[in-house]
Amino acid sequence: MKKILLLLSTVMLALASSCTNDKTATDMNENQTLEVLKTRRAVRTYEDRMPDKELIEKVLEAGTYAPTGMGAQSPVIVAVTDPQVRDRLSELNAKVMGSKSDPFYGAPVVLVVLADRTVPTYLYDGSLVMGNLMNAAHALGLGSCWIHRAKEVFDSQEGKALLKEWGIEGDYEGIGNCILGYNSGEDPQPKPRKANYIYRVGM
Ligand SMILES: Cc1cc2nc3c(=O)[nH]c(=O)nc-3n(C[C@H](O)[C@H](O)[C@H](O)COP(=O)(O)O)c2cc1C
Repeated sequence: MKKILLLLSTVMLALASSCTNDKTATDMNENQTLEVLKTRRAVRTYEDRMPDKELIEKVLEAGTYAPTGMGAQSPVIVAVTDPQVRDRLSELNAKVMGSKSDPFYGAPVVLVVLADRTVPTYLYDGSLVMGNLMNAAHALGLGSCWIHRAKEVFDSQEGKALLKEWGIEGDYEGIGNCILGYNSGEDPQPKPRKANYIYRVGM
């Protein structure tokens, strides 16, 4: 009897401690993750300083873990740190807008996300990669912003030539450019969330 009681209390203690540990770990992780998701903002002022390669690699890795329809991994990411290529992309992007200013706001890094048009979910897949890249950047202390017009740029002859140069073959559509770097200005503040953002049904 004594042995059974001892065994029972050991099992209960182990269970209680595992529950407590799980809860603490989950709460901490959730809070940090939720904080990152809430505080990430579009950064439009950048230092010239290039982030360390290790940081850029971490952002890229997070991008590759975005969910994709049927796990098809339709997107690809082109990490551009070469200043000449970065400037060429800026020029082509500005040309789509009919502007001469730098649409990349001086950011030293451009992560171009493209996705395979033959996969039905390509647009959603690529957009989720963009989201992962921007949130990961913020988690690591880097500023980022989605810069549009990747579709127009990579549908153009000049853009197609770049894809060929980079060895990207197939029917790829430009989804977005995630610019990266160190914020040289104030932390941008979010707009208040609109009142009817969430409709609750059954809660
Ligand atoms: C699909 C998409 C396209 C965007 N294109 C641009 C762009 O070309 N230039 C720019 O400065 N910001 C662009 N943004 C950034 C948005 O303007 C920004 O996310 C929005 O104002 C909300 O600000 P926040 O990201 O700080 O919450 C884009 C964002 C998304 C999601």
